[in-house]
Amino acid sequence: MPGKLLVLEGVEGCGKSTQLQILYAALREHRGMRQLQQRGLIPRILTTREPGGTELGLELRQLLLGDRGEAAMASRAELLLYAADRAQHVEELIKPALAEGCWVLCDRFIDSTVAYQGYGRGLDLALIEQLNQVATGGLVPDLTLWLRLDAEVGLARTRQRGRADRMEQADLAFHQRVQGGFEALAQQQPERIVAIDAMGGVDTVAREIFAVVEGYLQQWYAPSLTA
Ligand code: TMP
Repeated sequence: MPGKLLVLEGVEGCGKSTQLQILYAALREHRGMRQLQQRGLIPRILTTREPGGTELGLELRQLLLGDRGEAAMASRAELLLYAADRAQHVEELIKPALAEGCWVLCDRFIDSTVAYQGYGRGLDLALIEQLNQVATGGLVPDLTLWLRLDAEVGLARTRQRGRADRMEQADLAFHQRVQGGFEALAQQQPERIVAIDAMGGVDTVAREIFAVVEGYLQQWYAPSLTA
């Protein structure tokens, strides 16, 4: 695929949604990126998220995160709904954008399913890998920025924001297992997943993210970039 898929991942409250917007704004101002855009090599930069990057995805997001009261959701049903959201998202938005050469900045992707449904809920990791493969048609991010933060610190941040959604309501032990899942993924796939310390202030984290992304931009487009 000629475009690039960049993903931000991490536990609740790690700041990835804010950082995604900051990264998007910084890339639009970046000299090298502008050169590449002017030459039509990168027609657009898109921001999107999972779940909820498409119209169908928004309905699935509501099912997944909305308050269900007493109506429980089985872990395997949850897994399949995240997979359905991803299948639609890849087909409808991500693949066509990458085919055009666009950069897609995505808030969460395959690693969230491994961390939350695999490590968090305890579902079979091999099954999740297969399902991710089916949902994405084998598409893997070009770069994943994992915003590393203690689950406890992240949860405290989200609870300050107000009402917790269905996933945020899960207990601390669940979120600690999710954190362990991201940790394991980062160790297993260092060529794709870069850890960013998310304990610092917004500007510090944004600078660290941008330095990493700029490095990759240079590496990926070196022959097309003039000094
Ligand atoms: P967020 O987009 O506000 O972070 O909320 C998405 C929630 O869904 C978050 O709790 C993580 C969870 N999630 C999964 O459990 N599995 C997945 O595959 C994805 C994409 C998200």
